[in-house]
Amino acid sequence: MKIFRMDTVNSTNEVAKDLIAEGAEPWTVVVAVKQVEGRGRLGRRWVSPRGGLYVTIVNHEALERLPVVSLSAGISIAAVLDGEGITSSLHWPNDVFVGDRKIAGVLTEGLTDPPRYWGIVGIGVNSNSRRDDFPKELRGHVTTMRHELGREVDNDALLDALLGSLRDNYPSQGVEQEVLERYRRRCETLDQDVVIETSKGVVRGRAVDLNPAGFLIVETEGEERVEVAEGTVVRRA
Ligand code: BTN
Repeated sequence: MKIFRMDTVNSTNEVAKDLIAEGAEPWTVVVAVKQVEGRGRLGRRWVSPRGGLYVTIVNHEALERLPVVSLSAGISIAAVLDGEGITSSLHWPNDVFVGDRKIAGVLTEGLTDPPRYWGIVGIGVNSNSRRDDFPKELRGHVTTMRHELGREVDNDALLDALLGSLRDNYPSQGVEQEVLERYRRRCETLDQDVVIETSKGVVRGRAVDLNPAGFLIVETEGEERVEVAEGTVVRRA
């Protein structure tokens, strides 16, 4: 595992893509102190002040495995938070919440240059930042480990714990369904009535399960089962 430690970057996912172009090995890790163009899912920004943990891990991964790889990152974060005494929950696909405030998120991207396939897993954890470090409009929606614990967090130790947890929970060939089972146990979205915004429109219904690829299965009012690959649960219906 090679770790590239940086101070200020645009986005660790972008640095990771440059490293892939230069021939990065699997389990190459990029970690930054600050991001000036931190990116969230679905084109959103990820506010990345000093104090947070911003990390990207690259691996050879086929595109169809990326949803499960991404879900495993959510499980890994939640397990690390458990170790710190912070109880969190996963909102599909992989937002990590403490109560109704977001503490971490995952942005997974795929890169193909046949016969090579890459999975780029970007993880942002509000670790040692303060709620006040976020723009006013976000303060009511975010929390940080520092806030939850009432003390400073050592980001180096946190990175070690996170990388260990990512390895422990990695959905290697053959263990994907076991990882999905672990995810189901932690996912608050299941067995809820949901409204999901996807790039193809809004899906309303009851989130009943995950399919083997990690898509959310929603039973809509017409009792049709829809398998949702991506989107944001905007609210519980
Ligand atoms: C989300 O919840 O929308 C996903 C947030 C992912 C943020 C991380 S921080 C490290 C990596 N670099 C980025 O620009 N984004 C991801």
